[in-house]
Amino acid sequence: SQDLWGQTFPNPVAISAGFDKNAVAISGALGLGAGFVEVGGVTPLPQAGNPRPRLFRLTADGATINRLGFNNDGAVAIAKRLAAHRASNGDTRPVGINLAANSYSADPANDFEILVETFAPQADFLTIDISCPNSKNGLVFLSPGPLKNLLSRLTTLRNRKALVNPPALLVKIAPDIENAELDVLLEIIVTAGIDGITVCNTTTARPDTLTSRDRNERGGLSGKPLFARSTELLRHVYQVTGGKVPLIGVGGVSSGADAYAKIRAGASLVQLYTALVYQGPGLISRIKHDLVALLAADGFTSLNDVVGSEHKPT
Ligand code: FNR
Repeated sequence: SQDLWGQTFPNPVAISAGFDKNAVAISGALGLGAGFVEVGGVTPLPQAGNPRPRLFRLTADGATINRLGFNNDGAVAIAKRLAAHRASNGDTRPVGINLAANSYSADPANDFEILVETFAPQADFLTIDISCPNSKNGLVFLSPGPLKNLLSRLTTLRNRKALVNPPALLVKIAPDIENAELDVLLEIIVTAGIDGITVCNTTTARPDTLTSRDRNERGGLSGKPLFARSTELLRHVYQVTGGKVPLIGVGGVSSGADAYAKIRAGASLVQLYTALVYQGPGLISRIKHDLVALLAADGFTSLNDVVGSEHKPT
């Protein structure tokens, strides 16, 4: 268990954004043993997403490629379902919402404001998704000027609501970025007072190791081939931010050892999606079980001590 952002996370493992896009499976995801959930990506207005086919299994690679394009029922319907979950269910595990701009929106920054306005009163954390390779209206913020402006608007709006329990604001970053460019963005994120960083989204890179037929489909690659890059990026973000900003590590986690590696590299929390496709609903329990054994084997008694431990002298 860990306390982060004034909330209790009973365990660090969860299913990442994209699995329950419409808030129809919150209790189900929690029922798999997750420590928290992240619903979405949610856009202000409903949208159908890209034409099919838009999701490909790369079975031999333990991966998927998706170009779903934020198909979802829109903020109003999803906020109602979240309210129903809160009202009907005594479960206090944190629920986050992954926020995305509509693909046809002429003012994506305003879309993010609408989403913060809608979800701030209900959500425990809000993830500003500016890293989905299938959404130009998010990627435009992966540059200094637009990012600074967006984060200033969203933190101001969240603070102005003066909520008793304001949601944490997180930014989800992309793996397809050079360190020098990323470091400028990290400086902006930290200065803006963002509470956490999710590292990372799917990648447009196609490692040479891929063997599956559909490896060159357009979209974001997830799963095993993303593990090394996303963990290296996590390590870098932890170092650059001095371990002061809680990080969510996501990308290719498929075992307790993978989750442990992410936590040691700097993640306070871990998410996964693709491995669940291949390994099924027992996966989260197995990871938690193996994590406890790995902690004990290394003499750790608290998860807090493991976070970023790879960077500390032994
Ligand atoms: C995703 N992911 C994602 N991320 C996000 O921020 N918003 C979203 O709506 C989605 N949608 C989505 C759909 C599908 C089908 C997949 C496979 C992935 C990215 C996801 O949250 C995660 O960052 C990556 O998939 C990497 O983790 P895994 O899958 O390698 O464990």
